Parts: sequence; structure tokens; C-alpha cells
Amino acid sequence: MADLKGLILSGGRGTRLRPITYTSAKQLVPVANRPVLFYGIEAMVEAGITEIGIILNPETGGEIRKVAGDGSQFGEGVRITYIDQSSPAGLAHAVLTAEEFLGDSSFVMYLGDNLLQGGIQELVAEFTQNAPDAMILLQPVDDPKSYGVAELHEGRVTRLVEKPAEPQSDLALVGVYLFTKRILEAAKAIEPSARGELEITDAIQWQVDQGDRVEPHVVHGWWKDTGKLADMLEANRLILDVVERRVEGHVDADSQIDGRVVIEEGARIERSVVRGPVVIGKDARITDSYVGPYSAIATGAVVERSEVEHSILLERAQLIGLEGRIESSLLGRNVVVRRGERTPRAYRFMVGDDAEIEIL
Ligand code: DAU
Repeated sequence: MADLKGLILSGGRGTRLRPITYTSAKQLVPVANRPVLFYGIEAMVEAGITEIGIILNPETGGEIRKVAGDGSQFGEGVRITYIDQSSPAGLAHAVLTAEEFLGDSSFVMYLGDNLLQGGIQELVAEFTQNAPDAMILLQPVDDPKSYGVAELHEGRVTRLVEKPAEPQSDLALVGVYLFTKRILEAAKAIEPSARGELEITDAIQWQVDQGDRVEPHVVHGWWKDTGKLADMLEANRLILDVVERRVEGHVDADSQIDGRVVIEEGARIERSVVRGPVVIGKDARITDSYVGPYSAIATGAVVERSEVEHSILLERAQLIGLEGRIESSLLGRNVVVRRGERTPRAYRFMVGDDAEIEIL
């Protein structure tokens, strides 16, 4: 197991999370105030993997390099190698881009926007013990059209199709794969799909066609692809459900903190009600407000005379003096939503491309 490497795919365009992804990689959008990407890195480290390659889109990769660093923050001996992908030409293209880093090693490939409960320790052990040519993880889903889909026959993989118009099964490919170096051969043998990408799904299908042993493993814990807002909020909910109460910031005597709540150092809660599960980041300020379940308020954010729940506020976002409650929302960095005092009373917006606003 020692020589198993890790490859995390954090390139791509993140079009389904615009406008957030105009200025930041989608793998950095926080879940419970930590970048999604960190959960994948930690899962690898937990499984004993220390050599980790991260595929980047050169346009958004700079920030990922800065935040994840050389890997030492994730544990002793952990080393991250960054690999720029010339264009987001598909998951199999990303694997080919990493050819030099991978060498002859087997590896775990983890899509940087995926979250998998329970980590990958057992999967790595199973892969090492059974030594198949590849191992794929599957989970039944309600909308298989949005995923790679696998068809099984008597427990064996017979067919894999990327986002089929008419799915023949409800088993979606989870974004965590265990490969041997054979996948490089497969990625070289296939052609781009109709959407112009070199699909990992097609590369694995090539292995099936060649008679390789491709082992399916159905996962029972939760799994989330956080590529869209609704999924992001759900991932936030799932992670917040397991946070442990920790109050390090300042809570005044007129505030009430219920349930599992994390309040980081430097945060201030004044005359407010915070009902967990909630995380409130460093130096955030909650004044005369209500912060309800499943909210993640990032560093330096402000909630004043407002109510918010089931939402994610990124760094320094501000909600001030709102009448209605904010819910199921994702607010980018430095976004300000406040009640206007000017007359004539009117809605006034300055909103970037592709933003979405729903008013009462
Ligand atoms: O989440 C599971 C699904 O992920 C699977 O069921 C599908 O079979 C698989 O193709 C993939 O589908 P998505 O459409 O969700 O992939 P997406 O384009 O979002 O890319 C997944 C991750 O890989 C994301 O973190 C961005 C990164 N990526 C993507 C491309 C296309 C790269 O690093 N390079 C790329 O060229």
C-alpha cells in the first residue's frame, strides 16, 4: 500500500457554480468553513497516502496552491505536487497530464469537488488485497442522467456510460476511483466524447472490453458531488451534522447558543440567537440576529439585524438590516446585502455576471 499515490482533480471550469467560480476554483468553496478539496486530501492522508498530485486549471490554480501549500499542514511526510492541465479536456485527459507524476504507481483518483463519508481507508485496503486492474465506486441515485452510470451483470461491470440520455441503471459512478497504471494505456486508446472530453468512463469501459478485472464497489454512506448550489448546501448540512460544539469566540450575556455550534476565536455574538448545527468563522460578527441550522458563516462575515439559515456566507459577506429571512443561499466574498435607507425606496443592485437573486 505504501507506494499508492493520490491524484486529486481540481481543474475544470466550475460553470455550474458561477458566479462564485469566476474568481475562485469550485474546489475551494467551503463546506463547514473548510475548502471541499481539503476533505479529499485528508481522506487520502488517513488512508496512508502521502504522495499527492493535484491537477489544476492554470487560471484558478494559483489560489489552490496557496491554500493547500506543500501539503505539510495535512500531516507529516505529506507532499503535494501541483500539475497544470493545459485545458479542461476531461478526466482521462487529466490522468494523462499526470503521467510523469504517477510513474508506474497504482493510485487513488479523487474528484476535488466530491465528498465521501467514511473516508477511503477500507477501499484502499480492499484494492490492495484483491489487486484488481481497477476499482470503481457506485451508488444508486435518483437522477442517473447527471452522472457516469454503470451496468452490472452478476456482480460484474458490463457497461459504463457517461451521462446517458436513457440510463439503463441507477448506479452512478462516485468520483473516487482506484487505478493501476493500466488506466494510462486506456486513456491513450480512447477518443474524445460528444462533449469533446476524454472521459474516464470511456477509459474504464476500454478496460472492461479488454477483459481487465474492473471491480465494482457500492458505497452505502453518503456521497456528494458539490458541483451545484443545492448539492453544496446539502454537503454543508451533512458535514455540519457531525461537528462538535466548540465556542472560542465571544458570546455576550444577551445571546443564546443552542446545540452543536462552532464559534471560532475572535468571532463576536451579540444579542443574537444561534441555533446549531452552525459554524461561525474567525472574526465574524453576529449582532441582533438569528443564525439558524445548517449555516456556515466564514471568517470576517457580518450578520446584523437579520435572520439567516441553511446558507453559506463566504469571507467578509454582510447581511444588514434585512426584513425577510435568508435561506438556502450562497453569498460570495465581500458580498453585501442590506436594507437601503434612501428615498425613493427601491431595490438597488450591483450584481456580477450570472448571479441569481430571488426577492419577496
Ligand atoms: O461526481 C461524479 C461524476 O464526476 C461521475 O459520475 C462522472 O462519471 C464524472 O465524469 C464526473 O462528472 P462531472 O460532470 O461532475 O465532472 P466535472 O466536470 O464536474 O469534473 C469533476 C472534477 O474534476 C472537478 O473537480 C473538476 C475536475 N476536472 C474536470 C475536468 C473536465 C479536471 O481537473 N480536469 C478536467 O479536464
